[in-house]
Amino acid sequence: MMEGPDLSSTISRAELIEFEGISMVHFFTENWEKIQNFQARPDDILIATYPKAGTTWVSYILDLLYFGNTAPERQTSQPIYMRVPFLEATFPGIPSGVDLADNMSTKPRLIKTHLPVQLVPKSFWEQNCRVVYVARNAKDNAVSFYHFDRMNMTAPEPGDWSTYLQRFKNGKTVFGPWYDHVCGFWEKKQTYSNIHYMFFEDMVEDTGRELERLCSFLGLFTPIEEREQIRKGVHFDSMKHNSMTNYSTIPLMDFKVSPFMRKGKVGDWKNHFTVAQNEQFDELYKQKMKNTSLQFRTEI
Ligand code: PPS
Repeated sequence: MMEGPDLSSTISRAELIEFEGISMVHFFTENWEKIQNFQARPDDILIATYPKAGTTWVSYILDLLYFGNTAPERQTSQPIYMRVPFLEATFPGIPSGVDLADNMSTKPRLIKTHLPVQLVPKSFWEQNCRVVYVARNAKDNAVSFYHFDRMNMTAPEPGDWSTYLQRFKNGKTVFGPWYDHVCGFWEKKQTYSNIHYMFFEDMVEDTGRELERLCSFLGLFTPIEEREQIRKGVHFDSMKHNSMTNYSTIPLMDFKVSPFMRKGKVGDWKNHFTVAQNEQFDELYKQKMKNTSLQFRTEI
């Protein structure tokens, strides 16, 4: 499945470091000055997520909405991570996110970030850019992140599930605590109206409805037939078998351990959490989320 250059001998798992108040790895901090000074343009669209919340799904939807008709060759010639640069990333064998974004000539530019709201480069806010934020319930998010860290050969060693879950609860996963991330953008939305806050669970429940809401936020008048075509194209099975969206072309992941497009479900946490883990998780969750109106569904 791996079609890119074989970098297995040059890649090693990163150490978790503390950086700007959150847990990080050097792959996202090396370019820090350039990232913070990144010059956003007013029509840029920032796709912001905590890792594993549905970033690739929404990236592909946006790419099809904007360029599916005007540049159909994009869909078959370039993997999604080249079309939607990951702003803070500096991985071996792939141009840095900032370089990719700086050299992009599309209008709009679609840009991905996992940075928490307080670390998003300020030019995005100054330029009043549209931000599409996707959030996923903490339990499924943790499970997905765990399997990703097992197969992502640049991630810190995940350990076993129970060790990982403890780290997730303590906010010691890359990009910091899930709670602060989802709440940070939720709070930002109160004062910055150009954020469309979406939920992974809603997308699974009714992709067509979420697509319609997204178009309405973006001010796009996409005919219903076209939206229907996009809905089918971004279905889990179709993205899983599409080498331009399933990450099989990236040399940093070991698909023998787990696929990138793993299950795409709501409620897979039930196959991982023990009864005790679930009770302890719920208890901490209540405390961490006591001051927010943000609500998640852990099943649909
Ligand atoms: S990343 O690495 O942060 O960009 O990962 P991200 O894309 O945010 O999250 C990957 C998870 O999203 C699931 N996914 C989907 N689910 C349903 N339908 C579609 N079309 C879809 N596309 C991606 C993917 O399977 C990962 O979740 P898990 O639970 O691990 O399967």
